[in-house]
Amino acid sequence: MCGIIAGIINTNIADSLIEGLERLEYRGYDSSGLAVIKSDQSIIHRKSVGKVSELKAIVKASKTEGQIGIAHTRWATHGKPSTLNAHPHLSHDCFAIVHNGIIENYETLKEELIAEGYEFSSETDSEVLVHLIHQAMQSSSSLFDAVQSITPKLEGSYALAAIDKSTPDTLVVARRGSPLIIGLSDDQIFAASDVIAFNETIEQCIYLEDEDVAAISKNLLTVMNNGEIIPRPINSISGDENGASKGSYTHFMHKEIHEQPQAIQRLIDAYLTDKGLFSNTFPVADQLAISRIKNITIVACGSSYHAALIAKLWFEAYAEIQCQVEIASEFRYRKSIVPKRSLFIAISQSGETADTLAALGHAKKLGYKKSLAICNSNHSSLVRETDLCLLTHAGKEISVASTKAFTSQLTVFLMLAIYFAQKRKLTTKNDTMMDALKQLPDQLSDALTLEPLIEKTVTPLAKAKNCLFIGRGEMHSIAMEGALKLKEISYIHAEAYAAGELKHGPIALIDDKLPVIVIAPNNDVLSKIQSNINEVKARGGQVYIFSDSDDFDQANSLIPIAPAPSLISPIIYSIPLQLLAYHIALLKGNDIDQPRNLAKSVTVE
Ligand code: AGP
Repeated sequence: MCGIIAGIINTNIADSLIEGLERLEYRGYDSSGLAVIKSDQSIIHRKSVGKVSELKAIVKASKTEGQIGIAHTRWATHGKPSTLNAHPHLSHDCFAIVHNGIIENYETLKEELIAEGYEFSSETDSEVLVHLIHQAMQSSSSLFDAVQSITPKLEGSYALAAIDKSTPDTLVVARRGSPLIIGLSDDQIFAASDVIAFNETIEQCIYLEDEDVAAISKNLLTVMNNGEIIPRPINSISGDENGASKGSYTHFMHKEIHEQPQAIQRLIDAYLTDKGLFSNTFPVADQLAISRIKNITIVACGSSYHAALIAKLWFEAYAEIQCQVEIASEFRYRKSIVPKRSLFIAISQSGETADTLAALGHAKKLGYKKSLAICNSNHSSLVRETDLCLLTHAGKEISVASTKAFTSQLTVFLMLAIYFAQKRKLTTKNDTMMDALKQLPDQLSDALTLEPLIEKTVTPLAKAKNCLFIGRGEMHSIAMEGALKLKEISYIHAEAYAAGELKHGPIALIDDKLPVIVIAPNNDVLSKIQSNINEVKARGGQVYIFSDSDDFDQANSLIPIAPAPSLISPIIYSIPLQLLAYHIALLKGNDIDQPRNLAKSVTVE
């Protein structure tokens, strides 16, 4: 969603801001803009709809020079993508702001400002911020004071950066609910929504907390929180946090698909030591509570939700712990019962998904006592707001369509299910389970070798308008994830069904134009899914089967998957479905890493 980069340097900042925006493109956006304070102490701004490359061309063609500036990629929420709605927003040509988040009470604030004579030029909620700053400056001694005085009036979430043409050496930033990080080097200082926006010279950063307001100048950084100066810790930025590059790949998604064997190995190494699973992970004080858990509630969105659906089956089958999984945006608005001795798990790649964070807040109010985050971002809001955390260690995921983060989530869940089973003394097959887990990286590498075959086989699918995915048990959720991947990047309408549900309705759709993707590992429901395939074939459906059995002579196309222990097969079968979506999108010439309308991290409701 929206991205912010702002900073102060000794040379012209416009190029650095554009580079920062380019690094933020992966978050998803539809327009962009920047503002700088020129040497004559006037604010100049440039905006453009579409890609950052268009803004770059505008900036290059015009004289946009200054040492301090703010920039933004906008993902439209209030008002369509247009140059008027793009940020920065200005008030009286004196102040400019960029904003990420939603000001929920903007209509009331706007009415009050209009009554005082303020004129609005956009449909956005964000524009109220800059007029509020202008208004506050009538009684404030500095931009820093003005921003501190307006934040208590705001409902909703914000990360914001503001400049005042009369103080060209100071940038003011603030956050509540939306991430904002300050990046430091000897001669540069930046603030951004994500560490990835910083250039390679920025090696240290400060994570701002909710309600922080910071004044940034070349030699001084002051962070205030509710009227008090707060010294926030300085962190080193690790290599995999900034400067993500595609290497030899054309797309981040393709690179991230191929990184999965290493990502999963890293994860196993992090949590499986000589002393066993999660031996040093949970604080001693929590270990007993964890071993006594009787119930688990998991909330998530999108791919993270699909991973959770599979976790439910594992928790119940291996650890005999009852588990319910809910879509975060639904859970947060309904009354539900808190089961006794329950663990609340919120799972999110980014840890910044607004609905998942709100669901966590709702769970705490309902009375859940213990919460666990499963997350790919160590510095995320989700990690900060939960009692316990398991990082998925997948490395930065840039492609909007989740791949390695999803299989890493599944692997953490599988390890957790085994861990619970061990704690509850339920595993008679501990060695077999550990052996299966350790096979994962090699099995994933094997699955990746299917790419040329998948590429060839799926060519006809690029012409499809609709597609059906079916599976049973865990593979139903893998089918859901496969359908989501295809929708996201190929724009082909895709639905997933539990194969047994076909004849309860969706079979009416089957004709020779509807491809049916079947995920059919050689397990105890293979014969059931073979019947489902026959039903599809009898109605002229085109069937594409992913299986480690070859007992499918009636198949249109078979993608042979190497046999794998059933414990890990949902993780293995994720790979060919990712490759299927990738190659169809490639054939269609789509923008694979930044699909239309989508944002990497959905930080607004
Ligand atoms: C996955 O391909 C999607 N881009 C999306 O569904 C994503 O999984 C969802 O928005 C949840 O994100 P999170 O894991 O960062 O919370």
